[in-house]
Amino acid sequence: MKIFIDTANLDMIKEINSWGILDGVTTNPSLIAKEGTDTRTRVKEIAGIVDVPISAEAMSLDAEGMIKEGRELASIHENINVKLPMSIEALKATKVLSGEGIDVNMTLIFSPQQALLAAKAGARYVSPFVGRLDDIGLYGTEILEQVIGIFFNYGFDTEVIAASIRGPVHVLEAASMGCDIATIPYNVLLQMVSHPKTDEGIQNFIKDYEKSKKK
Ligand code: E4P
Repeated sequence: MKIFIDTANLDMIKEINSWGILDGVTTNPSLIAKEGTDTRTRVKEIAGIVDVPISAEAMSLDAEGMIKEGRELASIHENINVKLPMSIEALKATKVLSGEGIDVNMTLIFSPQQALLAAKAGARYVSPFVGRLDDIGLYGTEILEQVIGIFFNYGFDTEVIAASIRGPVHVLEAASMGCDIATIPYNVLLQMVSHPKTDEGIQNFIKDYEKSKKK
């Protein structure tokens, strides 16, 4: 499974890239606002430090505006793909942008039917939001299984990004289902590394090593 980081923070991106595990970056308007910058500036900066796909979200609500913004965002760097929130207008824009070779990440996907439409319109990625489905009392990762199954049935090459990841169990479930990509917040990536038995084991090895040196 490819691992993307879900952040617009440059230090976090650099750190995770240094681990040798980074396959992509997703941003959204809320993540960009947290950094006190704007999408164009920040995705350009990200493209300057990592050589992986980067999602940048367009803010227009009509197809014409999305197409214009999408072309502008994609022209910043060859690694930039355009995030469009699911809607009829976004489907129209996806058709045009994908026809021009610009990758679209259809975001705010909350049902498998939305994912099917996005794939048919030519989206390169679909992003089902797992955590936000959990928030309303649903079993969030179920949508991943459904979308993966539909794409497999019909041979779509659209990649499924497990988004709105809230913890390591979401990552485990996405990977177990064969999800193409998970976009993971920095704190969850840290949680994935650590295990109390690993820490305990390291401490014990150090203690035994020190003892054996004294002999
Ligand atoms: C996906 O690309 C989105 O940026 C993200 O996963 C949103 O997740 P949230 O529900 O934590 O805001």
